[in-house]
Amino acid sequence: MQDPAFRPLGTPLSPAATRVMLLGAGELGKEVIIALQRLGVETIAVDRYANAPGQQVAHRAHVIDMTDAARLRELIERERPALVVPEIEALATPALIEIEREGLATVIPTARAAWLTMNREGIRRLAAEELGLPTSPYRFADSLEALRAAIDGDASTPGIGYPCVIKPVMSSSGKGQSKIDGPDEVEAAWQYAASGGRVDAGRIIVEGFIRFDYEITLLTVRARAADGTIGTQFCDPIGHLQEAGDYVESWQPHPMSAAALERSRDIARRVTDALGGTGIFGVELFVCGDEVWFSEVSPRPHDTGMVTMISQHQSEFELHARAILGLPVDTSLRTPGASAVIYGGVNAGALVFDGVTDALAVPGSDLRLFGKPESFEKRRMGVALARAGDAETARANAKLAASKVKPRVA
Ligand SMILES: Nc1ncnc2c1ncn2[C@@H]1O[C@H](COP(=O)(O)OP(=O)(O)OP(=O)(O)O)[C@@H](O)[C@H]1O
Ligand SMILES: [Mg+2]
Repeated sequence: MQDPAFRPLGTPLSPAATRVMLLGAGELGKEVIIALQRLGVETIAVDRYANAPGQQVAHRAHVIDMTDAARLRELIERERPALVVPEIEALATPALIEIEREGLATVIPTARAAWLTMNREGIRRLAAEELGLPTSPYRFADSLEALRAAIDGDASTPGIGYPCVIKPVMSSSGKGQSKIDGPDEVEAAWQYAASGGRVDAGRIIVEGFIRFDYEITLLTVRARAADGTIGTQFCDPIGHLQEAGDYVESWQPHPMSAAALERSRDIARRVTDALGGTGIFGVELFVCGDEVWFSEVSPRPHDTGMVTMISQHQSEFELHARAILGLPVDTSLRTPGASAVIYGGVNAGALVFDGVTDALAVPGSDLRLFGKPESFEKRRMGVALARAGDAETARANAKLAASKVKPRVA
C-alpha cells in the first residue's frame, strides 16, 4: 500500500500527480479540496448530483450513486487515487474495505472507521461495550413492539424510560430523530424514524435523554510526526447549538472545567485510537459539570467545525488535508470565533443572495456561500463567520451577519 508519509507531493495532471478522491463534495468537501489544491494535489470530487460545491473547485467531477459498490469500485479503479476520502456517511463501505485490503488506495482514516461510523450501532457498541466509554443508556429495536419493550423494560432488564431519543441507526443531521416524553408518542416516533432513515428503514436506537449543561465537538487530529509515529492533537473545544438535531451555531473556544476537558480529551483519544488511520475526527460530547458522555464521532471534518475557518491558524479542512498527506499539523487557536448557518428558506433552483454587503460590514465577519445548485427551506446554503475578543461577541456578530443575508429565488 502506498504510504502517504513517504510519498512526495507531485504535480497535478501529470504522471507524478498525488491524486485524492473525495466521496461527497458538499461544503465540507469543498474546503478540503481547496486545502489540497493549495498543496498541488490533483483532486477528484464525487457526489450524487452535478455541480455539488466541491465539484466546482476540483480537477475532475463524477456523479454516481456512492452506495452502489460496483460503480464505486469501477470509478476508483479508473481514477486510481492514492487516497479515498469519505465526506459523507452513506457509502458502500464494504467496497471500501475490499479496496483497502487489496491495496488499491488508502481509505481515510480507515475503511473500518467509515464502516463503523455510518451505522449508530457500530460506533455505539465500539465506544460503550468495547472501550467502556460513558454514553447515554441505549437499546436497539427492529419493530414498534421491540421499541416499547426497550423503553419499558421487564422484570430482568430496566427500560430506557422517558424522556428518550429515538433515531434511525443510519441517518444524519437529525433526520428521523425525535425526543419523546411518554408512551403516547412512541408510535409516531417509530414511524418518523422508519421514514427518516437512510437505508435500513427498520432499525432504530433508543437513547436515554442526557440533561447536559452544554455539548461540544472536540476536533481531534491523528497526524504523523517527523519521526513517523502517529500522534494525537486536539483543537480547542467547540460549543454548538442544535435545532431538531441540526447545527445552527457554533463557537470556539467553549469554556470548560479542567476536569471536564481532561475527560473529553481522554474519551476522544481512546475512540480515535480505536478507529485508527490519519486525519481529523469530530468527537461529539455532552457535558454536565465535570461529567462527560460520548455521543458520536465523525471520522472527517465536522459541520460545527466550520468556525475554525476563522478561529484557527489551520482550519479543520487544512488540518485534515495535511494529516492525510502525512504532513505535520498545528491545531492552535488564532482568535475566538463563531459560525452561524444560512438556510435556503425556499424550495427553489438557483438563488440570489441579497444583503451580502451588510453582512460583511459586521465587524470581524466573513462569509461562505456554498454554491449549491438547488435550495430547500432547511438546506444549508452558506455560513457566516465572525471573530472577536471573546466567543460570546463573535457569536452575536456571526448571528447578525447571517441574518443580513437574504436568499431569494433568482
Ligand atoms: N441521548 C441524548 N440526550 C440528549 N440530547 C441528545 C441525545 N441524542 C441526541 N441529542 C441531541 O440531538 C443532537 C443530534 O443528535 P445526533 O448527533 O445523534 O444526531 P445526528 O443525526 O447524527 O446529527 P448530526 O449528523 O448533525 O451530528 C445532539 O447534538 C444533541 O443536541
Ligand atoms: Mg451529531
